[in-house]
Amino acid sequence: MTIHFIGAGPGAADLLTLRGRDIIAACPVCLYAGSLVPEAILEHCPKGAQVINTAALSLDGIIGHMQNAHEAGQDVARLHSGDLSVWSAMGEQMRRLRGLDIPVSVTPGVPSFAAAAAALGAELTLPGLAQSVVLTRTPGRASSMPEGETLANFAATGATLAIHLSVQNISTVTAALMPAYGVECPVAVVYRASWPDQQIIRGTLSDIEARVGADITRTALILVGPALAGEGFDESCLYSENYDRRYRPQSADSPWAGWSHNDD
Ligand SMILES: C[S@@+](CC[C@H](N)C(=O)[O-])C[C@H]1O[C@@H](n2cnc3c(N)ncnc32)[C@H](O)[C@@H]1O
Repeated sequence: MTIHFIGAGPGAADLLTLRGRDIIAACPVCLYAGSLVPEAILEHCPKGAQVINTAALSLDGIIGHMQNAHEAGQDVARLHSGDLSVWSAMGEQMRRLRGLDIPVSVTPGVPSFAAAAAALGAELTLPGLAQSVVLTRTPGRASSMPEGETLANFAATGATLAIHLSVQNISTVTAALMPAYGVECPVAVVYRASWPDQQIIRGTLSDIEARVGADITRTALILVGPALAGEGFDESCLYSENYDRRYRPQSADSPWAGWSHNDD
């Protein structure tokens, strides 16, 4: 039988893929990371399913449940918040499962940085301002940071930073970023993006800490960089009238002239 890892999205129950929903509905066992996966998503589980919140379990305990289901011939839906490619602990579970010869599948989900950008109505890669997004965090009790992955190093690139798991350290974050970005650099903090109690706080590196205050200590993203201003950027060539491109050749000499969609 198979352990199906599924990205459950950032919070809103309808930000789950159709594939994820259908796999959940077909699995008699569901393990979910209870701190961030919304209960409404569990309504897709079939009647009588064994539904287990893993928030208080150890890795051994989680793998034990998976092994039991596998031996009983039952597929498992394993839900983590957002997408599985970042900070999901999927890697360590998969390594154990591979060692046990238990098959796995992975279904992606909407990551929280995308939900936060949507809440802001923001494109994080604006021409002339930023063409890269760095998904990062600050060190926590359970996780240190590899040498070189410092906020100061990332800030030196000028990219848009999406800083996870760090709102409780916002003063350290702003202090590390000010030298490269300047005190007026725009910042947005999005708390519980896509949940009913979502909050958006905008400011600059110099005042965001005071604006956020002491109430928001978790489940928030700090987005920083010139692109957050949403102005002062160039238009891309993509839709420019004169840009010679595959879908709109500008002359008979264009390398795209005579190209048809079926050629690609
Ligand atoms: C353990 S990580 C999980 C990340 C997740 N796998 C993803 O794809 O976004 C938890 C952190 O992600 C961010 N996060 C998760 N859900 C969020 C949401 N709905 N709104 C804002 N930030 C969120 C917060 O920074 C939180 O501390």
